[in-house]
Amino acid sequence: VPVPLKANGRDLTQEILDSLAEKDSFKTNEEFPDVPQQEIKAALDRLGSRSMIQYDTLDSEQILLTQEGRMIAEEGSHEYKVWEVVKSKGKIAIKDLPKVVGADTAKIGQGAAFKNKWIKKDGDSLLPVADSPKDTAREILADIQSTKSVADPKVFADLKKRKLATTGKVITYNVRKGPKYAKEMVVEVTDLTADMLANGSWQSANFKPYNFKALGAAQNSGALHPLMKVRAEFRAIFFNQGFVEMPTSRFVESGFWNFDALFVPQQHPARDQQDTFFISDPSKADMPREDPIGEAAMDAMEGGARLLYQPKEPRKLVPRDYKKYFNDVKTVHQDGLFGSTGYRYPFSEDESLRLVLRTHTTAVSTWCLHRLAEDPRPARYFSIDRVFRNETVDATHLAEFHQVEGVIADFGLTLGGLMRFMEDFFGKLGLTNLRFKPAYNPYTEPSMEIFGYHIGLAKWVEIGNSGMFRPEMLEPMGLPKDLRVYGFGLSLERPTMIKYGVSNIRDLLGHKVDLGFIETNAAVRLDKN
Ligand code: PHE
Repeated sequence: VPVPLKANGRDLTQEILDSLAEKDSFKTNEEFPDVPQQEIKAALDRLGSRSMIQYDTLDSEQILLTQEGRMIAEEGSHEYKVWEVVKSKGKIAIKDLPKVVGADTAKIGQGAAFKNKWIKKDGDSLLPVADSPKDTAREILADIQSTKSVADPKVFADLKKRKLATTGKVITYNVRKGPKYAKEMVVEVTDLTADMLANGSWQSANFKPYNFKALGAAQNSGALHPLMKVRAEFRAIFFNQGFVEMPTSRFVESGFWNFDALFVPQQHPARDQQDTFFISDPSKADMPREDPIGEAAMDAMEGGARLLYQPKEPRKLVPRDYKKYFNDVKTVHQDGLFGSTGYRYPFSEDESLRLVLRTHTTAVSTWCLHRLAEDPRPARYFSIDRVFRNETVDATHLAEFHQVEGVIADFGLTLGGLMRFMEDFFGKLGLTNLRFKPAYNPYTEPSMEIFGYHIGLAKWVEIGNSGMFRPEMLEPMGLPKDLRVYGFGLSLERPTMIKYGVSNIRDLLGHKVDLGFIETNAAVRLDKN
């Protein structure tokens, strides 16, 4: 903060030089008791950098009066003010006192004045008792104000309790003349000009010294949004555990990929207007078919990872048949298939081809799992991206948010293994002692909500949803019966809110976000154990 040479019409720099003309040294708190610390320091540095003065910093604990303490020291205690009024009037109605001395003084002062026997009650009025009482409270505080100390610690403790005095750090500078001391600051030249070089005046000019301590101007720069910082942490955890990132760039899905392929019945409440944003234009999706863009993205991300698994039988790629897949999904819902009795309702192809803003990233997991059926093998997939729900927006809900999702496919997986994996995964985020609660998802059985004890919040918080995907979902894809798949999902917003101490989700995401909050937040470090 630049401090003007002449603050409040005073030229402090000159005053310091004047003081040193009279004495060899002084303490700033004695010489300039009313000048703010910052101005003193600026003036001292201005002179110090030119070797005109030298100074030492002395800091000490001092006893200081609060605003109320200062008022009493200057104007008298509340009880004294009450007594003064009662004495001068001879008699005053209790109800009139606040009008004369103010409500606070009337309230606090009366009690103490009674206790000190300075005044007494007479019906509804007050009468003076003492003639010329001693205002000890004021004397003590006035003494502190001048000496900045209290001899009796008990007295200080009492004043502190009454919020009349506190301790504070006081910085004082001990100032003395420097080797280049002069009675006035000489005019300083800031620029070396061609003229000065030509006429030789540069030789005698008094150049202003460089201030190497000056901070540069703040730079505008980009900043990662806190959600993206937490996302980076999650990604690192996933990558370290051999997960491959799924291609989530498609926000619009068909009802087929978002719901039907997940064995979500078409009458399920989550599908109707309350939770899902439907797209009206175009009115209809294509039938499920190959997706070359997603395919290329997944190939690139998986790289050679799939070849790490060597099946017992030589590898045989199973070509994908989308017509059969669609029909098997339909039959599983409508009539039952693969040993399942199904839901037994007439499956609507139109409903399946309605376009929706994806309500969960499990739509992408489903696509990746159907792709896995081409070459069934153990696989670990994850994604972190945006999902959309037609929900009432409040402090903890938005119509769009981010999901962190993981999928693990392997032979011989058990529920115990899922719980163990969850403990490891959340342990990396600093959440231990997980609790699992039976839950329901149309696409997983069993399903479990995951709760973690949050030490900072001192309570159990729901941190995720998980389960083992149902055969009704996996078998129409053509995955072998003994390949089991875990899935789990959580929001990215919840851990971010906990981490950054944000209690309203709208401060984190959406049009109300303060850009300063994004620019100034520290890099996140999840407390790992
Ligand atoms: N899709 C679930 C949700 O939106 C999360 C989940 C993913 C649950 C995979 C089980 C398996 O909450």
